[in-house]
Parts: sequence; structure tokens; C-alpha cells
Amino acid sequence: MDLRSGIQSALNAQGPHADAVADLTWVMIYGGAAIFALVLALAAYALWWPRRRAWMGNRRFVLAAGFVFPLVTLTALLVYTFAVARSIVVFPDEPDLRVEIIGEQWWWRIHYLDQGGRVEFATANELVIPAGRSIELTLRAADVIHSFWVPSLAGKLDMIPGHTNRLRISASRPGVFRGQCAEYCGGPHALMGFYVIAREPGAFEAWRAAQREPARAPIADALRHGRTLFLASCASCHTVRGTSAEGTRGPDLTHVGGRMSIGAATLPNNQDTLAKWIAASQHLKPGNLMPSMNIYTGEDLRALAAYLEGLD
Ligand code: CUA
Repeated sequence: MDLRSGIQSALNAQGPHADAVADLTWVMIYGGAAIFALVLALAAYALWWPRRRAWMGNRRFVLAAGFVFPLVTLTALLVYTFAVARSIVVFPDEPDLRVEIIGEQWWWRIHYLDQGGRVEFATANELVIPAGRSIELTLRAADVIHSFWVPSLAGKLDMIPGHTNRLRISASRPGVFRGQCAEYCGGPHALMGFYVIAREPGAFEAWRAAQREPARAPIADALRHGRTLFLASCASCHTVRGTSAEGTRGPDLTHVGGRMSIGAATLPNNQDTLAKWIAASQHLKPGNLMPSMNIYTGEDLRALAAYLEGLD
């Protein structure tokens, strides 16, 4: 496995903040390996040439190698580590974009904020950002402690109930990066993933303008039937702007059809997986807060899934 090419690898750093963490990692790995090799070489020397090892017992050598060297090396490493940690959370400049992310059991509520800090629109489980820009994430938790980690773009930061943490992320180039909740938060914690999608700034602005719009009204009969079923069964938990569905317990589905995945990066997003998710949510992600809506089968289920897929 090539750790430097994965979409969820801290060694495949794709932004300045992740670069700093990856550099620190390599300094530790190469530095640790070099010191370990040196110690092994000295031990081998002492074992194989017992008559020539007397100098190793010299008081000055023991002091230098056993006390001064570790003191200097570990102190330097400590200062370097603090500097990297600080560079991840402290910033002198203003961000280009602010996004609030709230950890929920077991998904991510995402609010894009305007200049005044007001919520412009909500989405879920997929953070779209402009490449080459600095994004400030406001991290909060709705229920228990979660941890926001997108290894290719930034360090890891916890989401703590009643507390707000701030994290900067930045992608050097367009691409798709996977993130994962990194703090055990109960039940399907392992299935609490997400994607960060970095786009060219122009494409990002177009996406953002489209996200601000309410959902398009369906024209085809089957889709209208799907919407009727959605409003009857799903509206108390989900919002679709432009309809009477205004529930806030679950993810905002106004533009769900345009997302890569469903169930917080659990399944790819298409009509088939949407239908399966609706009918067997508890089977696909056991313990999640959405009941399996197995009252819908056949034509009804297809219409409901088609309606959701059409919300792009
Ligand atoms: Cu959220 Cu683990």
C-alpha cells in the first residue's frame, strides 16, 4: 500500500497545514531511524570488539551521548512540535471563507457562513472548498465528542459539546479528500466519514450560488409522486428548501442529489443506493437515528429515491 497516494493519508499532504504535519512526521521517522541505527552500531561494536570498547566507558562519552545528546535533541523536537501545532490553530490573517461544521451522531452538519457570520445555507457530509484558499472551520458538537480529521489537508481537532474550536484547512490543488471522525462517538462511529472536495475558485463560486437556491420543483409525474411521499414521511426530520419540509434532526437534503455519497461517506450516491438507504437504513448503518422506512417498496420506493436523486 502506498501511503503517499491515498485520499485519506497524512503522508499524502495536499495543503500547507498538512505539509507541516507531514514534514514533522518525516523528521521524526528519519531522525528516529538514524539514531536507532547509530545505537545499534555502537552496541555491535562493543560486542564484537570487546578489547577496543574501553572508550565507551569514558565518563565524558557517557555524559555526552547519554545526557547532552538526548537533552538537545528532545528539546529541539519539542520546540519544533509546538511550532507546528501552533501553526495549525493560530493565524494572523483573515480566512477567505468561513464554514461551521457540527458533529452529530453520526454525520456532519455543515453551514456555509456569509461575511457577517450568518448561515447562508446548510449541507451535510461533504465540504466543498475553493482550492488555494484559506478556510476557517468552526468546529462544534451537537451531542458527544467527535473529532474532525481530514489527513491530507490538516491536523486533527476535537469537536467538544459546549465549546467551539477553530481549524484552518487549505488544499493546494483541486481534488477529493476523505475525512473521518477520529474520536469514538458511539454506535456507527466508524461509518462517520466525509469528503472534502476542492474546486477551482470559479467552479466553487458557481457551486455556492447553486447551493443558495431552493430545490427545483419536479415536473415528471413519478418525481412529483416521490415528493408527495417525501413530504408525508420524511419532512419532520429533513429540510428541502422550497418545500414544506423543514425538519432539522437529519441532514438538509435540498441538494442531496449533487453529493458524492450518502450516509456520511458510507455509500456512493445514486438512485439504487438511495432506495436501499431509505428501505434499510438500519441494516446499512446499524444504530443510526433514521429508521428503516420499509413501508415503501416497489414503485413508491423508486419514486422517492428518484425524487431525491433529482435534487442536485
Ligand atoms: Cu463522531 Cu466518532
